[in-house]
Amino acid sequence: MQNIEQLKNSALELVQNSTDVKQLDEVRVKFLGKNGEITSILKTLGKLAPEERKTVAQTTNEAKNAVFAAIEAKKAELELAALEEKLATEKLDITLPETPYNLGKRHPVSFVIEELETIFAKLGFSVASANEIENEHFNFTALNIPAEHPARQDHDTFYFNDFEEFNGEKQRKLLRTQTSNTQIHAMQAKGAPLRIIAPGRVYRCDSDLTHTPQFHQIEGIALDKDITFSHLKGVLQVFLSQYFERDVKLRFRPSYFPFTEPGTEVDIECVFCEGKGCRVCKKTGFIEVLGAGMVHENVLAAGGIDSKEFQGFAFGVGVERLAMLKYGINDLRMFFDSQTEFMKHFGKNL
Ligand code: DAH
Repeated sequence: MQNIEQLKNSALELVQNSTDVKQLDEVRVKFLGKNGEITSILKTLGKLAPEERKTVAQTTNEAKNAVFAAIEAKKAELELAALEEKLATEKLDITLPETPYNLGKRHPVSFVIEELETIFAKLGFSVASANEIENEHFNFTALNIPAEHPARQDHDTFYFNDFEEFNGEKQRKLLRTQTSNTQIHAMQAKGAPLRIIAPGRVYRCDSDLTHTPQFHQIEGIALDKDITFSHLKGVLQVFLSQYFERDVKLRFRPSYFPFTEPGTEVDIECVFCEGKGCRVCKKTGFIEVLGAGMVHENVLAAGGIDSKEFQGFAFGVGVERLAMLKYGINDLRMFFDSQTEFMKHFGKNL
């Protein structure tokens, strides 16, 4: 009995002196394990006299329970201390790696317009805009294309069924076929001198390999007291050279646009073969890029400008066309297909 009491006390002491869970477990095995010092006593009970057996069993069990309880309590104490120590000293990195987030990219139409706005800003042009839903007056009549003029048929126009009252006449509403309507609005709003570009969407009822029913143009107009065709040539030379990032060679061909006099189509030396002649330029060495001219006096009049005092030039250029030539995009329809692959390849990072 004394022995048991001693065993218990030495076990409790070892428990108290344990400084980590591993040591504690060694104490458990030593006393309470399968062949532990306390456990072994229980195995010898059979050899004892019956009256002795009962008290020894009871004392041993009490010792066993006491040691077990002490181990459990010490274990909890040690674990708590270990946790507190860890919390006090360990620097936890609780930041998560960022979840991949697809920001998307800038569409070529958007960033080409921005590139052009930047170039023209340096030339003193500000940016204007006008409605895409127009009436016949601004899209045609004011641009010197009267009602019965065959040029109206050159544009495959989307007409609305509605009309609106304008200048005392009923004007049919339509989706503008060209950004040239901004010329009139800008002249009426700002007068002369004037120097603006106007990027925007235009619509034509036309859909095939090289035409989409909606596309983008940039219109430009400059009016002042002594503007000549040379200014037009100079501005286009700077604009196209800066845009294509090289000294492009221009070719001016006489052409007819009712809102100009004279009118011209402007070609650049082919950017693919440098004028040698290839499939893209159809062996001509030149590619048409825009229409331009000196603003017709009837157009100035429609804009409320006195053509005896002010004159100037205007031009209109297709945004997708410029993007295709600079970035090697070979199918116009890709601009509007909403294919993520197209954007991954041709889009610009934000
Ligand atoms: N509006 C014409 C078109 O869509 C392009 C154009 C030609 C605009 C000559 C102009 C210009 O301002 O002067 O084809």
